[in-house]
Amino acid sequence: MRALRIASLIAVPLLLAALAIGFFLFERQGGFAPYRVPKDSGRVVANDAQTLQRGEYLARIGDCAACHTTSGGAPWVGGRGFATGYGMIYSSNLSSDREHGIGAWSVDEFAHAMRHGVSRRGPLYPVFPYEHFATLDEADIDALYAYLRSLPASANVPPANRLDFPASSRSALVLWRMLHYRPQAQSPAAAREDRGRYLVDGLGHCAMCHSTREANGALAVDGYLAGGRIPGSGWYAPSLDAKQLQRYSVEQLADYLRAGASDHGAAYGPMAEVTYRSLQFLNEEDAVAMARYLKNVPRRPARKTEFTLLPDPPRQQAVAGNGAEIYRQACADCHGKDGEGKVGQYPALRDAVAATAPDPINAVRIVLYGGFAAATAHNPQPYSMPPFVQQLNPGEIAAVTNYVRETFGGQRSQLTAADVEAMHGIVLD
Ligand code: HEC
Ligand code: HEC
Ligand code: HEC
Repeated sequence: MRALRIASLIAVPLLLAALAIGFFLFERQGGFAPYRVPKDSGRVVANDAQTLQRGEYLARIGDCAACHTTSGGAPWVGGRGFATGYGMIYSSNLSSDREHGIGAWSVDEFAHAMRHGVSRRGPLYPVFPYEHFATLDEADIDALYAYLRSLPASANVPPANRLDFPASSRSALVLWRMLHYRPQAQSPAAAREDRGRYLVDGLGHCAMCHSTREANGALAVDGYLAGGRIPGSGWYAPSLDAKQLQRYSVEQLADYLRAGASDHGAAYGPMAEVTYRSLQFLNEEDAVAMARYLKNVPRRPARKTEFTLLPDPPRQQAVAGNGAEIYRQACADCHGKDGEGKVGQYPALRDAVAATAPDPINAVRIVLYGGFAAATAHNPQPYSMPPFVQQLNPGEIAAVTNYVRETFGGQRSQLTAADVEAMHGIVLD
C-alpha cells in the first residue's frame, strides 16, 4: 500500500511534467491552427498578364519547378525523388489538374500549404521548404497561385513515397514538428522590412542549404546561414555572412548571384544548379538587395564539421608526391602560380570556398570529378574544371588538395589517400 502511494507520488508529477512539456512543444509549433486546412473563403485572385508574369518570376526565384519536375519530364508535374535519411520522398504534381494537381485548390488552401506546410494530404515533409516560405506575403502568394493555375493540366501521379516507419506516416510529422519546427522564428513583418532579407529567407530559401543542420536533418537553432554539409547531396554549403563574403563588393556579389561566376569564385555543384534554374533570372534590383543583406549578416560561430578524418592507422598511408609540385604541373596554368586565377576565366583559389571551408569535401570532389559552372545569360560560355580522377591517384589528390587548402585557404589540411577514397565512396553512394 505504502509502496503504491510512494509510486504515485513520483508518477503523478512525472506524468504532469510530461504533459506540460508536450503541451509546450505542441503550442510552440503553432498548436492546432496549422492542421486546420481552411475552407474556401471565396476570395478571387487577379490573373491578368502582369500578375501572371510576376508569378512566373516569383516561381523562378523560389526554384519551384526544379523540385517539381523530373529530369527530362514535363515541367511542374512532380515526381522528382529526394533521398533523405529515412527513405525517398517524391514532389507533388502542381499543375492545374483538378484531381492530381492543385486545380481544385482555393487560394486559401494554397496559402496555408505554403505558410504552414499542411495541405489536404496532411502535414508535408520538410523537403518542401515551407519553413522558409512561411514569411511570404499575400500579394506574392496570390501571384504564385495565379501563375500555377495558368499551367496546363496533367494527370501525372508521382510515385508513392518509400519511407521507413515511422517516417512513412504523416502523423509522425506532428511529432517532428513539435521537436523541430519553430514558426515565426523570424517575424514576417521584420523580414518584409528588408527586401533582400525577404528574398534570402523566404522564396530564395538559401538557408535550406546554407544553414547548419543537426544530425537528424533539422535546422540547428544557432546555425542560421552558418554553413554545413547538405544532407542527401554530400556537398558543403559555406556560411553566408559578412566575413565569408568580404572578398566581394555588393555589386560583385549581385553579379555572382546572377552570372554564377566571378573573379572570386564560380558556382559549381548544387549552387550551379540554383544559379542556372533560379538566380540568373533575378532582376538587378533584387540581386543587389540580396547581396546587400548578405554582406551584413553577422558570423555565427562555426560548428565542428560533420566530416571526421579516418582514425590514425590508415592515416599512415599518407600522401603521394609533393602537393606544391603537383599543383605547379596540373593546376597553375589555370589557377595561377599563387592561386590568383585568371580574371574572367578561372577563379582564384586564394580564399575560394573550397579552400577555406572547414569541410574538405568540395575541394576533393571538384578535383576528382571537375566542375561545371552554369551557362547563364550573364555568363553564356563558362569555363569548366577538368576531372583528375584518371590522372592523379588518391594519394596525389590528397597531396594537392592539402596544398591548396593550406596555402590558399589557411586550413590545416591533413587528408590522406584513404580519406579521398572514403569521399569517393560517399559521392558514389
Ligand atoms: C527543394 C525542393 C522543393 C522546392 C524548392 C519547392 N518544393 Fe514544393 N514540394 C516539394 C516536395 C518534395 C513536396 C511533397 C511533400 C510531401 O509529400 O509531403 C512538395 C509539395 C508542395 C505542395 C503541396 C502539394 C500537395 O499536393 O500537398 C505545394 C503547394 C508546393 N510544394 C508548392 C511549391 C511552390 C509554389 C514552390 C516554389 C515557391 C515549391 N513548392 C518549391 C519540394 C519542393
Ligand atoms: C541546393 C543547395 C543550395 C541552395 C538552395 C543555395 N545554395 Fe548557395 N551554395 C551551395 C553550395 C554547395 C555552395 C558551394 C559551392 C560553390 O561555391 O559554388 C554555394 C555557394 C554559394 C556562394 C559562394 C560563397 C563564396 O564565399 O564565394 C554564395 C554567395 C551563395 N551560395 C549564395 C546563395 C544564395 C543567396 C542562395 C539563395 C538564393 C543560395 N546560395 C542557395 C548550395 C546552395
Ligand atoms: C583548365 C583549367 C583548370 C585546371 C587545369 C584546373 N582547374 Fe580548378 N577550376 C577551373 C574552373 C573553370 C573552375 C570553376 C568551376 C566551376 O565553377 O564549376 C575551377 C574550380 C576549382 C576549385 C573550386 C574553387 C571554389 O570556388 O571553391 C578548386 C578547389 C580547384 N578548381 C582546384 C584545382 C586543382 C587542385 C587543380 C589541379 C589538380 C585544378 N583546379 C586544375 C579550371 C581549372
